[in-house]
Amino acid sequence: MPKYDLLFENNQKWAKRILEQKPGFFEELSQQQAPEFLWIGCSDSRVPANEIVGLMPGELFVHRNVANLVVHTDMNCLSVLQFAIDVLKVKHVIVCGHYGCGGINAALDGNSHGLIDNWLNNIRDLIHRKADELNGIDDSEQRQDRLCELNVINQVTNVARTTIVKDAWNRGQKVSIHSWVYGLSDGLIRDLGLTLSSIDDLNELNNK
Ligand code: CO
Repeated sequence: MPKYDLLFENNQKWAKRILEQKPGFFEELSQQQAPEFLWIGCSDSRVPANEIVGLMPGELFVHRNVANLVVHTDMNCLSVLQFAIDVLKVKHVIVCGHYGCGGINAALDGNSHGLIDNWLNNIRDLIHRKADELNGIDDSEQRQDRLCELNVINQVTNVARTTIVKDAWNRGQKVSIHSWVYGLSDGLIRDLGLTLSSIDDLNELNNK
């Protein structure tokens, strides 16, 4: 059987399996969604958001793009963020990068990759800002890993600097922005430790 047909077959089996475990699941879910989490991750096929955190349909609102970037002129990402915060009222925004990210590595390697270079320029700006730290790392894999982490930290601050998040905090809405990175080689998530939950948290960071 061609692989294409296999997807439909898999889907039918999947829906059947869920209904066996939770009768009425899809009917109930079709009425509303109330996820507590927004996931901003990489498009990489090896980092499937729901699966790696064990959440069911309805529990995770998801935005993915190459190298999990939050760019202030990207209407797609900003629209997802606004809907998640203003309408769904998610309590946590998780920016999750991953080690071995092709986008990050492409930004570092100095080669041309076509149109995507325009997108990757956002990472190249970060590379220039963190040149001292990155140039101080001799091992190229360790340098790539560190850039994956620095990129997540940068995107967390980008989320916090949007009018969407600042307005939410100013009206007293509780929402925290988290910095995570996923390991392709062990399937585990690390918390990078930067969590922003208020305007004060953001200002403190800006003053550093
Ligand atoms: Co990636």
